[in-house]
Amino acid sequence: MHPRALLLAFSLLIPWHLATAAEHGGHADAAIKSFGYCSQCHSLHPGVNMTGPSLAGIFGRQAGTLKRFDRYSPALVNSSVIWTEASLDAWLADPTRFIAQTYMQIRGVGDAQARADLIALLRLAGPDGPTGVAAKAREMVRSDLKDEPPERLVRGISVCGDTYRVITADGLTHPFWENNLQFKTDESPNGPRPGSPVIQATGMLGDRAAVVFSRSEELTSVIKRNCLTQGETGK
Ligand code: HEC
Repeated sequence: MHPRALLLAFSLLIPWHLATAAEHGGHADAAIKSFGYCSQCHSLHPGVNMTGPSLAGIFGRQAGTLKRFDRYSPALVNSSVIWTEASLDAWLADPTRFIAQTYMQIRGVGDAQARADLIALLRLAGPDGPTGVAAKAREMVRSDLKDEPPERLVRGISVCGDTYRVITADGLTHPFWENNLQFKTDESPNGPRPGSPVIQATGMLGDRAAVVFSRSEELTSVIKRNCLTQGETGK
């Protein structure tokens, strides 16, 4: 989506903080982008835990208390922190400085405005059901893998020696050194369509990527050992 369209959609859907942020220089799409980083480990869907716990309803919750998440660090559980604007701001700026020995060992979000936008987004992702603004914000940030553009849809993968070649629906072939290509599955309702795995860039230099399959069985049907390099037109 064009950034302007995204901004427009966003300011229509979301009332105060982010709409205001959008008016003041387009921070709304920046917040979604920043959450892209968080979304490697967190969803905004109630009950959907990943590496980290679901952040639905995080605002006002005590740290480390989501019942269905089994992987909290003792440090977070024993911290007695309540998640407010101030505590989230300190946490996001530098998690291990805020709670030493947390399992969330990421580089913090250095930019204060980016943190404020992220916190506004977390506030909107309340614990309520699948209607209303919070639901829309959730859908916007955790995008579905079903309507990806052709350059992200995988049509086949061959492997020869230490090289994987990923053929996408736009007809291009993308070679990867075997250590730089990851394979994942997403069986959730947001996962790819069966038979249409999706490739996602994971590194800054464009040399790393992950292919997400709708289920593990597809790994063997899509990846073929084949040393005939056909039509290598991609990068
Ligand atoms: C590499 C994975 C990873 C990334 C990226 C990540 N987190 Fe986390 N997050 C975790 C883990 C793991 C925990 C649990 C930490 C613990 O138990 O010490 C956690 C915990 C949290 C908590 C506390 C949850 C609770 O129930 O108390 C919040 C809030 C949070 N993360 C927000 C964020 C935000 C916002 C971002 C993006 C800026 C982010 N995280 C990026 C892995 C991650």
